[in-house]
Amino acid sequence: MTPPHTLHHVPEPVPADQLHDAPTRESSEAPVMSARYPSLRDKRVIVTGGATGIGEAIVEGFALQGAQVGFVDILGGPAQDLIRRLAEAHHVPVFLEQDVADAAALGDTLAGLVEALGGCDVLINNAASDDRHALDVVTPAYWDQRLAVNLKHAFFASQGVWPEMKANGGGVILNLGSISWHLGLDDLALYQIAKAGIEGLTRSLARELGPFNIRVNTIIPGNVQTERQMRWYTPEGEAEIIAAQCLKGRLQPTDVAAMALFLASDDARFCTAHEYWVDGGWR
Ligand SMILES: NC(=O)c1ccc[n+]([C@@H]2O[C@H](COP(=O)([O-])OP(=O)(O)OC[C@H]3O[C@@H](n4cnc5c(N)ncnc54)[C@H](O)[C@@H]3O)[C@@H](O)[C@H]2O)c1
Repeated sequence: MTPPHTLHHVPEPVPADQLHDAPTRESSEAPVMSARYPSLRDKRVIVTGGATGIGEAIVEGFALQGAQVGFVDILGGPAQDLIRRLAEAHHVPVFLEQDVADAAALGDTLAGLVEALGGCDVLINNAASDDRHALDVVTPAYWDQRLAVNLKHAFFASQGVWPEMKANGGGVILNLGSISWHLGLDDLALYQIAKAGIEGLTRSLARELGPFNIRVNTIIPGNVQTERQMRWYTPEGEAEIIAAQCLKGRLQPTDVAAMALFLASDDARFCTAHEYWVDGGWR
Protein backbone atom coordinates (compact mmCIF):
# COMPACT_ATOMS: atom_id res chain seq x y z
CA MET A 1 0.00 0.00 0.00
CA THR A 2 1.18 3.53 -0.67
CA PRO A 3 2.23 5.38 2.47
CA PRO A 4 -0.21 8.16 3.38
CA HIS A 5 2.17 11.07 2.87
CA THR A 6 5.69 11.47 1.63
CA LEU A 7 5.77 15.23 1.56
CA HIS A 8 6.70 16.37 5.01
CA HIS A 9 9.94 14.68 6.04
CA VAL A 10 13.38 16.01 5.26
CA PRO A 11 15.68 13.20 4.11
CA GLU A 12 18.84 12.64 6.07
CA PRO A 13 22.02 12.48 3.98
CA VAL A 14 23.67 9.06 4.27
CA PRO A 15 27.02 9.34 6.10
CA ALA A 16 29.94 8.12 4.01
CA ASP A 17 30.77 5.32 6.46
CA GLN A 18 27.23 3.89 6.16
CA LEU A 19 27.03 3.70 2.39
CA HIS A 20 26.92 -0.07 2.43
CA ASP A 21 23.68 -0.01 4.42
CA ALA A 22 21.13 0.77 1.75
CA PRO A 23 18.70 3.27 3.28
CA THR A 24 15.12 2.11 3.69
CA ARG A 25 12.22 4.01 2.19
CA GLU A 26 11.51 5.38 5.67
CA SER A 27 15.01 6.75 6.15
CA SER A 28 15.00 8.55 2.79
CA GLU A 29 11.47 9.83 2.69
CA ALA A 30 11.45 13.13 0.91
CA PRO A 31 9.53 16.32 1.28
CA VAL A 32 11.08 18.61 -1.10
CA MET A 33 7.98 20.17 -2.58
CA SER A 34 8.23 23.26 -0.38
CA ALA A 35 8.49 25.64 -3.37
CA ARG A 36 5.38 27.63 -4.16
CA TYR A 37 4.49 28.57 -7.74
CA PRO A 38 1.68 31.13 -7.85
CA SER A 39 1.49 30.64 -11.63
CA LEU A 40 0.22 27.07 -11.06
CA ARG A 41 -2.83 28.11 -9.04
CA ASP A 42 -6.04 27.17 -10.87
CA LYS A 43 -4.05 25.72 -13.79
CA ARG A 44 -5.79 22.77 -15.41
CA VAL A 45 -3.42 19.82 -15.21
CA ILE A 46 -3.93 16.32 -16.63
CA VAL A 47 -1.74 13.43 -15.44
CA THR A 48 -1.69 9.88 -16.81
CA GLY A 49 -0.86 7.08 -14.40
CA GLY A 50 -1.58 9.38 -11.48
CA ALA A 51 -2.81 6.88 -8.89
CA THR A 52 0.48 5.57 -7.51
CA GLY A 53 4.23 6.16 -7.56
CA ILE A 54 5.66 9.26 -9.21
CA GLY A 55 2.30 10.10 -10.79
CA GLU A 56 0.67 10.13 -7.36
CA ALA A 57 3.29 12.59 -6.09
CA ILE A 58 2.74 14.72 -9.19
CA VAL A 59 -1.05 14.79 -8.68
CA GLU A 60 -0.54 15.66 -5.02
CA GLY A 61 2.10 18.28 -5.77
CA PHE A 62 -0.08 20.14 -8.27
CA ALA A 63 -3.15 19.89 -6.04
CA LEU A 64 -1.15 21.43 -3.18
CA GLN A 65 -0.24 24.32 -5.51
CA GLY A 66 -3.95 25.02 -5.98
CA ALA A 67 -4.10 23.56 -9.49
CA GLN A 68 -7.12 21.69 -10.84
CA VAL A 69 -5.91 18.17 -11.52
CA GLY A 70 -7.54 15.46 -13.60
CA PHE A 71 -5.87 12.07 -13.80
CA VAL A 72 -6.33 8.66 -15.36
CA ASP A 73 -5.08 5.26 -14.26
CA ILE A 74 -6.03 1.59 -14.36
CA LEU A 75 -6.00 1.46 -10.53
CA GLY A 76 -9.29 2.80 -9.24
CA GLY A 77 -8.75 1.95 -5.55
CA PRO A 78 -5.48 3.85 -5.02
CA ALA A 79 -6.88 6.73 -7.10
CA GLN A 80 -9.84 7.06 -4.75
CA ASP A 81 -7.51 6.87 -1.72
CA LEU A 82 -5.50 9.74 -3.19
CA ILE A 83 -8.62 11.83 -3.80
CA ARG A 84 -9.75 11.23 -0.22
CA ARG A 85 -6.35 12.41 1.02
CA LEU A 86 -6.70 15.58 -1.02
CA ALA A 87 -10.29 16.29 0.03
CA GLU A 88 -9.20 19.60 1.60
CA ALA A 89 -7.33 20.80 -1.50
CA HIS A 90 -8.30 24.07 -3.20
CA HIS A 91 -9.54 21.89 -6.09
CA VAL A 92 -10.18 18.22 -5.35
CA PRO A 93 -8.66 16.16 -8.20
CA VAL A 94 -10.91 14.41 -10.70
CA PHE A 95 -10.20 10.79 -11.64
CA LEU A 96 -11.32 8.68 -14.61
CA GLU A 97 -10.35 5.02 -14.90
CA GLN A 98 -8.68 4.40 -18.25
CA ASP A 99 -6.07 2.11 -19.79
CA VAL A 100 -3.72 4.43 -21.70
CA ALA A 101 -2.81 1.60 -24.08
CA ASP A 102 -6.23 2.00 -25.73
CA ALA A 103 -5.42 5.18 -27.64
CA ALA A 104 -8.91 5.72 -29.04
CA ALA A 105 -10.65 5.33 -25.68
CA LEU A 106 -7.95 7.46 -24.03
CA GLY A 107 -8.83 10.26 -26.45
CA ASP A 108 -12.47 10.16 -25.35
CA THR A 109 -11.52 10.02 -21.67
CA LEU A 110 -9.14 12.95 -21.98
CA ALA A 111 -11.85 14.92 -23.77
CA GLY A 112 -14.05 14.21 -20.74
CA LEU A 113 -11.34 15.47 -18.39
CA VAL A 114 -10.78 18.60 -20.47
CA GLU A 115 -14.50 19.27 -20.25
CA ALA A 116 -14.56 18.63 -16.49
CA LEU A 117 -11.60 20.97 -15.89
CA GLY A 118 -12.73 23.59 -18.40
CA GLY A 119 -9.56 23.19 -20.49
CA CYS A 120 -6.01 21.92 -20.22
CA ASP A 121 -2.89 23.98 -19.49
CA VAL A 122 -0.53 21.15 -18.52
CA LEU A 123 -0.35 17.51 -19.64
CA ILE A 124 1.97 15.07 -17.89
CA ASN A 125 2.50 11.83 -19.79
CA ASN A 126 3.59 9.69 -16.86
CA ALA A 127 1.92 6.26 -17.23
CA ALA A 128 4.28 3.41 -18.09
CA SER A 129 4.96 -0.21 -17.29
CA ASP A 130 8.49 -1.58 -17.05
CA ASP A 131 7.70 -5.30 -17.20
CA ARG A 132 10.82 -7.40 -17.67
CA HIS A 133 11.17 -9.81 -20.61
CA ALA A 134 13.76 -11.77 -22.53
CA LEU A 135 14.50 -10.78 -26.14
CA ASP A 136 13.41 -14.18 -27.43
CA VAL A 137 9.85 -13.95 -26.13
CA VAL A 138 9.03 -10.74 -28.02
CA THR A 139 6.22 -11.26 -30.54
CA PRO A 140 4.71 -8.57 -32.78
CA ALA A 141 1.67 -8.44 -30.48
CA TYR A 142 3.83 -8.04 -27.34
CA TRP A 143 5.86 -5.33 -29.08
CA ASP A 144 2.66 -3.41 -29.93
CA GLN A 145 1.32 -3.76 -26.40
CA ARG A 146 4.55 -2.59 -24.72
CA LEU A 147 4.99 0.34 -27.09
CA ALA A 148 1.32 1.25 -26.58
CA VAL A 149 1.70 1.46 -22.81
CA ASN A 150 5.09 3.17 -22.82
CA LEU A 151 5.16 5.50 -25.85
CA LYS A 152 2.13 5.65 -28.16
CA HIS A 153 -0.25 7.14 -25.60
CA ALA A 154 2.11 10.06 -24.96
CA PHE A 155 1.76 11.18 -28.58
CA PHE A 156 -2.01 10.72 -28.77
CA ALA A 157 -2.69 12.29 -25.37
CA SER A 158 -0.65 15.29 -26.49
CA GLN A 159 -2.55 15.42 -29.77
CA GLY A 160 -5.76 15.37 -27.75
CA VAL A 161 -4.91 18.52 -25.78
CA TRP A 162 -2.71 20.68 -28.00
CA PRO A 163 -5.66 22.21 -29.92
CA GLU A 164 -6.94 23.42 -26.54
CA MET A 165 -3.48 24.75 -25.62
CA LYS A 166 -3.10 26.51 -28.97
CA ALA A 167 -6.50 28.15 -28.53
CA ASN A 168 -5.47 29.27 -25.00
CA GLY A 169 -2.18 30.82 -26.14
CA GLY A 170 0.11 28.14 -24.72
CA GLY A 171 0.64 25.17 -22.49
CA VAL A 172 3.11 22.65 -21.12
CA ILE A 173 3.62 18.97 -21.95
CA LEU A 174 5.94 16.89 -19.76
CA ASN A 175 6.93 13.38 -20.78
CA LEU A 176 8.46 10.93 -18.32
CA GLY A 177 11.55 9.32 -19.79
CA SER A 178 13.93 6.92 -18.09
CA ILE A 179 17.60 6.56 -17.25
CA SER A 180 17.34 2.85 -18.17
CA TRP A 181 18.07 3.06 -21.90
CA HIS A 182 20.94 5.46 -21.27
CA LEU A 183 22.47 2.76 -19.09
CA GLY A 184 21.43 -0.15 -21.35
CA LEU A 185 19.94 -2.52 -18.78
CA ASP A 186 19.10 -6.21 -19.17
CA ASP A 187 15.56 -7.57 -19.71
CA LEU A 188 14.01 -4.18 -20.49
CA ALA A 189 14.42 -3.91 -24.26
CA LEU A 190 10.89 -2.82 -25.21
CA TYR A 191 10.61 -0.37 -22.31
CA GLN A 192 13.99 1.10 -23.19
CA ILE A 193 13.09 1.37 -26.89
CA ALA A 194 9.90 3.20 -25.92
CA LYS A 195 11.71 5.52 -23.50
CA ALA A 196 14.29 6.39 -26.15
CA GLY A 197 11.30 7.31 -28.32
CA ILE A 198 9.93 9.55 -25.57
CA GLU A 199 12.94 11.83 -25.93
CA GLY A 200 12.46 11.99 -29.71
CA LEU A 201 8.79 12.74 -29.17
CA THR A 202 9.69 15.63 -26.86
CA ARG A 203 12.10 17.15 -29.37
CA SER A 204 9.61 16.81 -32.24
CA LEU A 205 6.66 18.29 -30.39
CA ALA A 206 8.72 21.09 -28.87
CA ARG A 207 9.85 22.22 -32.31
CA GLU A 208 6.41 22.17 -33.91
CA LEU A 209 4.40 23.44 -30.95
CA GLY A 210 6.89 26.10 -29.80
CA PRO A 211 5.42 28.76 -32.10
CA PHE A 212 2.15 28.28 -30.20
CA ASN A 213 3.92 28.88 -26.87
CA ILE A 214 3.62 25.22 -25.91
CA ARG A 215 6.68 23.97 -24.04
CA VAL A 216 7.55 20.28 -24.16
CA ASN A 217 10.19 18.59 -21.99
CA THR A 218 11.27 15.18 -20.79
CA ILE A 219 11.89 14.46 -17.12
CA ILE A 220 14.35 11.60 -16.70
CA PRO A 221 14.21 9.89 -13.32
CA GLY A 222 17.02 7.74 -12.06
CA ASN A 223 15.97 4.92 -9.74
CA VAL A 224 13.06 6.12 -7.63
CA GLN A 225 11.73 4.22 -4.62
CA THR A 226 8.14 3.60 -5.68
CA GLU A 227 5.98 0.77 -4.40
CA ARG A 228 6.31 -1.02 -7.74
CA GLN A 229 10.08 -0.72 -7.81
CA MET A 230 10.25 -2.32 -4.35
CA ARG A 231 9.59 -5.71 -5.97
CA TRP A 232 12.89 -5.59 -7.86
CA TYR A 233 15.08 -4.45 -4.97
CA THR A 234 17.65 -6.45 -3.06
CA PRO A 235 19.90 -4.86 -0.44
CA GLU A 236 22.84 -5.46 -2.78
CA GLY A 237 21.02 -3.85 -5.72
CA GLU A 238 20.10 -0.78 -3.72
CA ALA A 239 23.65 -0.44 -2.44
CA GLU A 240 24.87 -0.57 -6.06
CA ILE A 241 22.51 2.22 -7.06
CA ILE A 242 23.69 4.40 -4.19
CA ALA A 243 27.30 3.65 -4.99
CA ALA A 244 26.72 4.67 -8.63
CA GLN A 245 25.01 7.95 -7.76
CA CYS A 246 27.02 11.07 -6.87
CA LEU A 247 24.54 11.75 -4.06
CA LYS A 248 24.28 9.00 -1.48
CA GLY A 249 20.56 8.65 -0.80
CA ARG A 250 17.48 7.14 -2.45
CA LEU A 251 15.27 9.17 -4.75
CA GLN A 252 11.62 9.50 -3.77
CA PRO A 253 8.62 10.26 -6.02
CA THR A 254 8.45 13.79 -4.61
CA ASP A 255 11.95 14.51 -5.94
CA VAL A 256 10.64 13.96 -9.47
CA ALA A 257 7.35 15.77 -8.81
CA ALA A 258 9.33 18.82 -7.66
CA MET A 259 10.92 19.02 -11.12
CA ALA A 260 7.50 18.68 -12.78
CA LEU A 261 6.16 21.60 -10.75
CA PHE A 262 9.07 23.83 -11.76
CA LEU A 263 8.88 22.90 -15.44
CA ALA A 264 5.13 23.45 -15.54
CA SER A 265 5.38 26.85 -13.86
CA ASP A 266 5.95 30.18 -15.57
CA ASP A 267 9.39 30.26 -13.90
CA ALA A 268 10.45 27.77 -16.60
CA ARG A 269 9.04 29.88 -19.44
CA PHE A 270 12.11 29.43 -21.68
CA CYS A 271 12.71 25.79 -20.89
CA THR A 272 11.67 23.56 -23.75
CA ALA A 273 12.83 20.67 -25.98
CA HIS A 274 15.16 19.22 -23.35
CA GLU A 275 15.75 16.46 -20.87
CA TYR A 276 15.78 17.27 -17.17
CA TRP A 277 17.45 14.61 -15.07
CA VAL A 278 16.57 13.75 -11.49
CA ASP A 279 18.93 10.86 -10.84
CA GLY A 280 21.21 11.82 -7.97
CA GLY A 281 24.01 12.06 -10.52
CA TRP A 282 23.87 8.38 -11.48
CA ARG A 283 24.61 8.81 -15.17
N1 LIG B 1 10.45 4.57 -10.44
C1 LIG B 1 11.57 4.68 -11.16
O1 LIG B 1 12.64 4.32 -10.67
C2 LIG B 1 11.55 5.23 -12.57
C3 LIG B 1 12.76 5.32 -13.22
C4 LIG B 1 12.80 5.83 -14.51
C5 LIG B 1 11.64 6.25 -15.11
N2 LIG B 1 10.46 6.18 -14.46
C6 LIG B 1 9.25 6.64 -15.17
O2 LIG B 1 8.48 7.49 -14.33
C7 LIG B 1 7.09 7.28 -14.61
C8 LIG B 1 6.38 6.87 -13.36
O3 LIG B 1 6.99 5.68 -12.89
P1 LIG B 1 6.62 5.01 -11.51
O4 LIG B 1 7.87 4.40 -11.01
O5 LIG B 1 5.85 5.93 -10.66
O6 LIG B 1 5.70 3.82 -12.03
P2 LIG B 1 4.61 3.01 -11.23
O7 LIG B 1 4.47 1.71 -11.91
O8 LIG B 1 4.90 3.03 -9.80
O9 LIG B 1 3.29 3.88 -11.50
C9 LIG B 1 2.83 4.03 -12.81
C10 LIG B 1 1.37 4.39 -12.74
O10 LIG B 1 0.86 4.23 -14.07
C11 LIG B 1 -0.27 3.39 -14.01
N3 LIG B 1 -0.39 2.63 -15.23
C12 LIG B 1 0.39 1.59 -15.62
N4 LIG B 1 -0.06 1.10 -16.78
C13 LIG B 1 -1.16 1.84 -17.10
C14 LIG B 1 -2.06 1.80 -18.18
N5 LIG B 1 -1.96 0.90 -19.15
N6 LIG B 1 -3.04 2.73 -18.22
C15 LIG B 1 -3.17 3.65 -17.24
N7 LIG B 1 -2.34 3.72 -16.18
C16 LIG B 1 -1.35 2.83 -16.12
C17 LIG B 1 -0.04 2.47 -12.82
O11 LIG B 1 -1.26 1.92 -12.35
C18 LIG B 1 0.60 3.43 -11.83
O12 LIG B 1 -0.37 4.12 -11.08
C19 LIG B 1 7.03 6.22 -15.71
O13 LIG B 1 6.93 6.85 -16.96
C20 LIG B 1 8.34 5.51 -15.58
O14 LIG B 1 8.74 4.91 -16.77
C21 LIG B 1 10.38 5.66 -13.19
